[in-house]
Amino acid sequence: MKIPISLTVNGDKFELLVAPTRKLVDVLREDLGFTGTKKGCGEGECGACTVLMDGEPVSSCLVLAPQAHGKTVVTVEGLESENGELDPVQESFMSKGAIQCGYCSPGMIMTSKALLKLNPHPTEEEVKDAISGNLCRCTGYQKIVDAVLDASEKRGR
Ligand code: FES
Ligand code: FES
Repeated sequence: MKIPISLTVNGDKFELLVAPTRKLVDVLREDLGFTGTKKGCGEGECGACTVLMDGEPVSSCLVLAPQAHGKTVVTVEGLESENGELDPVQESFMSKGAIQCGYCSPGMIMTSKALLKLNPHPTEEEVKDAISGNLCRCTGYQKIVDAVLDASEKRGR
């Protein structure tokens, strides 16, 4: 049995039929083609699949697709402006060398976006706390923290 759902992703509305146990991360990646969202552990441990749902960061591997019915989802693809400019957080991740293999980056960036919306000028400790659910195998985290702080400073200019 499949269930009809409708959701808005990056400003576009989608209607589709999904199995009740299908995960939002799989719908985003496989059905809708938003492969910027990564799937790591698939069980809520790594944060690679983080997207914003109604403005809140969620692990999309822990959200069943029917739970996203009627919701507004933003993935990393949704951060780019209409004229193709990167979001300031994306720019800071690049300029601060916070991206190596890049697998964690979309999740890190979406978590950082949520933090900066709630707390535009976080302390280093607050940044570390915010990204504590996002695992990175490559960077040692400091450059990611530096990038979030850099994005925060840009907002203040
Ligand atoms: S893939 Fe969702 S938390 Fe790891
Ligand atoms: S840059 Fe490779 S996992 Fe973070």
